[in-house]
Amino acid sequence: MKLLEIDNVTKRFGGLVALRKVSLYVERGEIVGLIGPNGAGKTTLFNVIAGTYKPEEGSIRFEGRDVTGWPPHKICKMGIARTFQTPKPFPNMTVYENVLAACLFSGAQKKVADVEQEITSILKRLGLEAKRNMPASKLTIYEQRMLEVARSLAIKPKLLLLDEVLAGLNPTETSQALNIVRELRSKDGITIVMIEHNMRAVMDVSDRVIVLHHGEKLAEGKPQEVTNDPEVIKVYLGGIYA
Ligand SMILES: Nc1ncnc2c1ncn2[C@@H]1O[C@H](COP(=O)(O)OP(=O)(O)O)[C@@H](O)[C@H]1O
Ligand SMILES: [Mg+2]
Repeated sequence: MKLLEIDNVTKRFGGLVALRKVSLYVERGEIVGLIGPNGAGKTTLFNVIAGTYKPEEGSIRFEGRDVTGWPPHKICKMGIARTFQTPKPFPNMTVYENVLAACLFSGAQKKVADVEQEITSILKRLGLEAKRNMPASKLTIYEQRMLEVARSLAIKPKLLLLDEVLAGLNPTETSQALNIVRELRSKDGITIVMIEHNMRAVMDVSDRVIVLHHGEKLAEGKPQEVTNDPEVIKVYLGGIYA
């Protein structure tokens, strides 16, 4: 059974078709790269999976269960977490409090001591331990992105949806972040779908890549197959991946 199965999903905003009959799957334990030009429908796809938007057509199955149209909090409790393209922390709360809020939101009955230990371990892994008492608004871009990831991890997801977590990072930060992504899969067994514009990075880290274009799935396959696909080169890679 696939971890996630999307079948013929269509999402419209008024007259605009943001997703048109998109079908795709994600296997347990995979890292899947989701690429495509701006406006292709990538973030909308995450929003549809996370329950932010309900698709007009099609279905979404997670662990074999039909979760189409479920509200975000129920999807979250099923084990799907996502980061936002524009980080959305509570700016006046500390790093610790931001993760705590996400932790409590996940709903499991937990003892404060357990929660504290859990958060400390998440912060350490993401290199945020030294910043735990700093207001989120004071973080660098890299730290803000890692806080987004930390908040997602607090719900102990099975599937993690990363929306452009590498955007605006320098090469050192990018490779640190990629190592973290790999570790989340290898050590925690988390399945990952990442939207990314940094082609070198996404091709490097992904087992499989899916290309969206004008709301439709244009191609999918191993990184090498996708980078050599004439159609993909024409509409997307030609200009940016020389
Ligand atoms: N809430 C919304 N209301 C209206 N149009 C939207 C909304 N969200 C996205 N869109 C439109 O849907 C299309 C796909 O957007 P998006 O999924 O954000 O693309 P991507 O993440 O691939 O850049 C775009 O044309 C965008 O303007
Ligand atoms: Mg987007």
